[in-house]
Amino acid sequence: MTPVLEVRDVAFNYPDGTRALQALSLGFARGRRTALLGRNGAGKSTLFALLNGIERPGQGAVLFAGEPLAYDRGSLRRLRRQVGVVFQDPDTQLFSASIREDISFGPVNLGLTRDAVSQRVTTALSAVGLTDLADRPTHALSYGEKKRACIAGVLAMEPEVLILDEPTAGLDPPMAAELLVLLNGLHQQGITVILATHDIDFAFSWADDIGVLQKGTLAFSGAADDIEAVERCFPQLGLELPWVYEVFRQLQSQGAIRGDQPPRSRAELLARLQA
Ligand SMILES: Nc1ncnc2c1ncn2[C@@H]1O[C@H](COP(=O)(O)OP(=O)(O)OP(=O)(O)O)[C@@H](O)[C@H]1O
Ligand SMILES: [Mg+2]
Repeated sequence: MTPVLEVRDVAFNYPDGTRALQALSLGFARGRRTALLGRNGAGKSTLFALLNGIERPGQGAVLFAGEPLAYDRGSLRRLRRQVGVVFQDPDTQLFSASIREDISFGPVNLGLTRDAVSQRVTTALSAVGLTDLADRPTHALSYGEKKRACIAGVLAMEPEVLILDEPTAGLDPPMAAELLVLLNGLHQQGITVILATHDIDFAFSWADDIGVLQKGTLAFSGAADDIEAVERCFPQLGLELPWVYEVFRQLQSQGAIRGDQPPRSRAELLARLQA
């Protein structure tokens, strides 16, 4: 099946000559949840900027639904309707006076009616738990609230692909857990979700597919539940294994847990132990 988004043999240098990506090929299957891992500076945010056409590769191609991106204004507008990116730093994304205005901006630009815009804003605000702060100036929000406002702004565009750059960074644990529920709800609606994170445990509890970038290249790509591949590759990459996988292996060696499939979360591990 054609990936919904794909980079083929992409290289990208910043204007100062920094080589951010090289010989990078990676496809994102439609409807899947992908978590991208990688050290600071590995190229995750740069890849996201290429995926919605903010940056253009120096070499190789970026494809949406099998078609190479075109970089004229009209094509980029159409692309960004389908591929929404929530950036790492919320201050670069919020620019309107209030949250409500900020979230309305995209839907208004789509040419929707006032009622349709208002409907989308209400739904997006409620999805991220910001209904009560809708009319608060964006500068008078906490970091986590700004982060959620950015997510709402992208949700209101109802994109086919949702890309989030470190969405849980700065969120308290209950809020991060709620975000997970929200993302899984979107996944169930058929939306392709791609995120970058430094939280290995979160990545493995949530994702279908895992990718690891290292110095601008793809160092690992595979299914999150392929415990053997993960055990083979992660130590070589200097990455820790998810703790549930380590505990699972210990329990397996003691005959205390059955099956070859690792549990993916604390809840699943506990349920398997009680079964
Ligand atoms: N505007 C820029 N100008 C020059 N170099 C840049 C710029 N933005 C990023 N870089 C460099 O490009 C490389 C990739 O950076 P990128 O931000 O994509 O990494 P990242 O994986 O998102 O890291 P982090 O986990 O810290 O967010 C790094 O070497 C970084 O220093
Ligand atoms: Mg980044």
